[in-house]
Amino acid sequence: MFQNQEITKGIFYVGVNDRQKHKFENMLPLPYGVSYNSYLIVDEKTALVDTVDIGMGDIFIEKIQSQLQGRSLDYLIINHMEPDHSGSIKLIRKYYPEMIIVGNNKTLSMVEGYYGVTGNVLEVADGETLSLGTHKLQFHLTPMVHWPETMMTYELTEKILFSGDAFGCFGTLDGAVLDRNMNVDKYWDEMTRYYANIVGKYGAPVQKALKKLTPLDLNYICSTHGPVWSEYITEVVDMYDQLSRYETKEGVVIVYGSMYGNTELMAETVAQGVAESGIKDIIIHNVSKSDPSVIIQDIFKYRGLIIGSPTYCNELYPEVDSLLGKIELRGVKNHVFGCFGSYTWASAAVKRLTSFVETMKWPSAEVTVDEKQGLKVDNYQSCLELGRQVATMVKNYVSDPSHCG
Ligand SMILES: Cc1cc2nc3c(=O)[nH]c(=O)nc-3n(C[C@H](O)[C@H](O)[C@H](O)COP(=O)(O)O)c2cc1C
Ligand SMILES: [Fe+2]
Ligand SMILES: [Fe+2]
Repeated sequence: MFQNQEITKGIFYVGVNDRQKHKFENMLPLPYGVSYNSYLIVDEKTALVDTVDIGMGDIFIEKIQSQLQGRSLDYLIINHMEPDHSGSIKLIRKYYPEMIIVGNNKTLSMVEGYYGVTGNVLEVADGETLSLGTHKLQFHLTPMVHWPETMMTYELTEKILFSGDAFGCFGTLDGAVLDRNMNVDKYWDEMTRYYANIVGKYGAPVQKALKKLTPLDLNYICSTHGPVWSEYITEVVDMYDQLSRYETKEGVVIVYGSMYGNTELMAETVAQGVAESGIKDIIIHNVSKSDPSVIIQDIFKYRGLIIGSPTYCNELYPEVDSLLGKIELRGVKNHVFGCFGSYTWASAAVKRLTSFVETMKWPSAEVTVDEKQGLKVDNYQSCLELGRQVATMVKNYVSDPSHCG
C-alpha cells in the first residue's frame, strides 16, 4: 500500500513520524514531534539503514514490505543502538530471519545485550566497504557521537552520508522528506536544541568525526531525525562545527529563579544594563517556567550568561541548582559570566554561583549583587553595572583556541 519517497535512485525513505510522545528521552519536550528516519536501499542486494522506535514497528514493517514486494532483505546496517533506532531490530529479524546484521564490534554486543539477537551478523571495521551492486557502502566509525558504537555509513555511488543522529533535529516530516521540498525554518532551533541537550557534552568527538568526514563529497545527508539534507548541507555541517567548538554569538542569556519577585526585579534591571551597552540579543528565562532544554539551547547559542537565585534553605533555589548541573555536565565553553542573588537572613546563593563559575573556568564580572530583602537603590545601580560589565566582556571576548576540538 505504501508509496515510499525515493530520495535518489534506489534509495527510499521508510521512516516514521511520532506525534504522540510528549517528551523525548522522557525529558525533552517535542512541540513539533520527532521523526525516526530509516532508509531502504534496493539494488542487487537490499539493505535497510537503521530501524525505528518499536512503538511504530507495525507501520515500519509495512513500509518495508511495500517496497520489497516479496524480495528478501539482505542486510540491516546499524549506525546507532539508542532504542529510538534499534527498537525494531528484533521485529525485523522475525520477518527476515536470513538478514545479516551489519555493525562494528561495539554495536553487535549491544544487539545481543538489548535484544538477545545473535547469528547472521557481519562485523565491520573502520573504512571497510560492502557492495550491494551499484551501491557501495563504506563504514566510518565515529565513537561518542553520541554513544560509543556510533558510526556513519557512506554510499559511494550517490555520495550519501547516513549519519545517524548527527545533523538530526526534532520535528516531524510533514509531507516532504527532502529539505529542498519544504520550508525548513522550524528545524534550525530544533537542531540546536537537539545538539545542545543530547550531543552537547561530546564536542571533541564531534570535531574528530567532522575532520574524518571532510574528504567525503556529499550530495545528501540522511540522518535519523528530521529532513534529508541536500540543499542545506553546508549550513548543517557549519552549524555542527560551530556547536561542537562551543562557538558562541554576541548575546546574553539571563536566567533567574524567584518565588516572590525580588530576584526577578534584579534580573530585569541587569537586562537593562546589558541593553544600555548595545547588546540586542538578550534572552531572560524564568527557570521555573522555561523548559530547561530551551535554556540550554540558548546558552549554547549566546556568549553571556548571568544567573540569579534566591537563597533557599541555605542553598541555591533548587531549580537553579538543577540547571547548573546540566551546564556542568555538558562542559559548556566560551562563555562569560555574571551572578546575583537575594536573601533574607544569611546569604548562600551568590557564593554557590561564584564557586560554579570557578568550576567552569569562565571569566566572570567583578561585580556581583547580593541583596538582603527588597531591592534598594545602591544595589539597583549595581545590577545595571553588572549588566554593563557582562556586556563589555561579551563584546571583547576572544574564543579560546584550545577549545577547538
Ligand atoms: C522555603 C524558603 C527557604 C528560604 N531559605 C533561606 C535561607 O536559607 N537563607 C536566607 O537568607 N533566606 C532564605 N529564604 C528567603 C529568600 O531567600 C528571600 O525571601 C529572597 O528575597 C526570595 O527571593 P524572591 O523574591 O526572588 O523569591 C528562604 C525563603 C523560602 C520561601
Ligand atoms: Fe541517539
Ligand atoms: Fe536518535
